[in-house]
Amino acid sequence: MNYSHPHGNVFYRTMNHPRPMISHGEGIYLYDESGKRYIDGSGGPLVVNVGHGRAEIVEAMTRQAQAAAYVHAIMFTSEPLEQYAAELAAVVPLAQPRFYFLSSGSEVVEGAIKLARQIQMARGQEKRHIILSRWQSYHGMTLGALAVSGRAGLRAPYLDMLHDVPHIPTPYLYRHPASGEALAARLEETIQAYGPENIAGFIAEPISGASLGAAAPPDDYWPRIRAICDRYGVLLIADEVLVGLGRTGTWWALDHWGVTPDILITSKGTAGGYFPLGFIAAKGEDVELIRQKLGDFNHGGTFSHHAVGAAAGLATLHILQRENLIANSAAVGDCLGRLLREQLGDHPNVGDIRGRGLFWGIELVKDRATKAPFPVADGLARRVWNRAFELGLVVYYSTGSADSKNGDVIMLGPPLIIDEAQTGEMVGLLREAVYAELGG
Ligand SMILES: Cc1ncc(COP(=O)(O)O)c(C=O)c1O
Repeated sequence: MNYSHPHGNVFYRTMNHPRPMISHGEGIYLYDESGKRYIDGSGGPLVVNVGHGRAEIVEAMTRQAQAAAYVHAIMFTSEPLEQYAAELAAVVPLAQPRFYFLSSGSEVVEGAIKLARQIQMARGQEKRHIILSRWQSYHGMTLGALAVSGRAGLRAPYLDMLHDVPHIPTPYLYRHPASGEALAARLEETIQAYGPENIAGFIAEPISGASLGAAAPPDDYWPRIRAICDRYGVLLIADEVLVGLGRTGTWWALDHWGVTPDILITSKGTAGGYFPLGFIAAKGEDVELIRQKLGDFNHGGTFSHHAVGAAAGLATLHILQRENLIANSAAVGDCLGRLLREQLGDHPNVGDIRGRGLFWGIELVKDRATKAPFPVADGLARRVWNRAFELGLVVYYSTGSADSKNGDVIMLGPPLIIDEAQTGEMVGLLREAVYAELGG
């Protein structure tokens, strides 16, 4: 493999390993400069929803960049932006939804927090300023998003800089079996403890993403959470940054439980990775109330509502619809789950295989009976990731699932265009990587 770093002037998050130079991608495959092929089994961190090399997205972006690459959203709008929002309104289950476009998951989290606050202010609920969230969650890298996140390791260096956010436990049935009633009760207790009159919203991932790798709650959890939020006037913010737009086999992960949030945010695969894009969706009546009572939404960004980003998002949406990729995610996702269980289910270090649609997590444990994790110092998830990479498979991984330090989860989230034969090839490579690294 050719690890060429011709200049060496870039620094990255992970610093102690070389990176192959990417050459190009096509469908679910990536190719590096040496010609080596990789199955993009996780679309990086769950981004590449419609595959690599989609000419129609590139053409849509080029058309808009040539027409007008940038205008500030305070001054102008653009055709792709208005059209994109109109078409999104048909697939986002909020009443008369309105959309606010930004460039990343962290940004839509920050924006949603501020929007929740401003909706409460517009309703005359001036005191409501607290956003509740959950442990073992990830909502982003910026300080506000990190404050609502519940990943101890990522928060640690910045703890003194984070504003104080009450966190409740996240459903994680593999390690902490609990009823939906008991889990949801923690939200109600926390609202009561801090005083409902102070609570603006509750933010959570409908299916846990990067922290726990596709851990879903009991079936009655989300309906109960919805009812509690309604009872106390708390806005439910669904962070669908990772699990939205078909990733779990439905348009939105909350659709699995027939629950509608007050604010829905998504990013990652929104423009398939062709443009950094995300959006906040809110109910028309709430946005209208802000307009009437407060005048403006007090939150801006130089690159918000980007016309080229909207063109990319719209072209991506058209592909999702035309190629029935939500249905493909559900159908091929079932096949992926079956194959993972068949090929990895018997391995003595595979503790749990969980997922929906095309988002799956495989939790690796030292002892299957006790669920004891490998010590973090073993770097197991990273080693499996590395081994898969050598074999030509890109996966995603997370550590700290068991006790915020130890615990290894490997994640798969391939482009939603993947077919069953490619899924078989992908699982075969993962099996090879797991057996090569762990024996068994
Ligand atoms: C659920 C969730 N929210 C927010 C974010 C932050 O997104 P970004 O990395 O684009 O800022 C992530 C990223 O992994 C995520 O998984």
